[in-house]
Amino acid sequence: MRKPIIVGNWKMNKTIAEAVAFIDAVDGVCHDGATYGVGAPFLALAESVKHANHLIVAAENCHFEDSGAFTGEVSVPMLEEIGVKWCIIGHSERREMFGDTDETVNKKAKRLIQAGITPIVCIGESEAQYDAGESEAVIRSQLSGSLADLCADCVKDIVIAYEPIWAIGTGKSASVEIAQQCCHIVRDQIEKMYGKEAAEAVRVQYGGSVKPENIVEYMAQPDIDGALIGGASLKVDSFTDIINKTQ
Ligand code: G3P
Repeated sequence: MRKPIIVGNWKMNKTIAEAVAFIDAVDGVCHDGATYGVGAPFLALAESVKHANHLIVAAENCHFEDSGAFTGEVSVPMLEEIGVKWCIIGHSERREMFGDTDETVNKKAKRLIQAGITPIVCIGESEAQYDAGESEAVIRSQLSGSLADLCADCVKDIVIAYEPIWAIGTGKSASVEIAQQCCHIVRDQIEKMYGKEAAEAVRVQYGGSVKPENIVEYMAQPDIDGALIGGASLKVDSFTDIINKTQ
């Protein structure tokens, strides 16, 4: 049985004070039936980790090198030092705006796994690729690059977030059928790369305009183990509603 995992991705939102206030308000609402968490901006991570007892706190990116001339970057040892145990990598916004590629995502995944930090690896096709019927090919190719040369046992613990770019922040969520179909392709590709055991253990999230009104139907799908949530994770009320609806 895979434990559901629901993570808010705050992106470049929330000051330290706002992050702490959110965590203080939501932490006690979490229950053991699922893993709940938030992806917080770098500056808010340390305080967020201190305030979270039930919520997991994820970084939203990292660099794969430990130190050096990489102005503005944050390394995995820096995350380790403040007790971060989860890290979102390869989000489409990073791939589109900051040059992340399957190759760099793969390097980040390897470095995180080495440090005992669980990667939440994001993949997903663009609107043009979706319209051209290329979703499956894109999903398989992003996974084969981003998850290349990992150990099968490590893959069991990672989380994959399937986020079709056309559904992110648009209010136009993927239909439950498409989301299930694509999350199934994710699992099938993991099986091809790392075998059945890894494919059955890995947790797959859907992301893209998830909100209290549609979370339950996504969670009812056999290959969807959770959600990565942007807009609806910013407000205490809507995130609490999502937690309550996934009891
Ligand atoms: O990583 C979460 C994300 O990109 C989805 O954003 O606002 O569509 O839920 P949103």
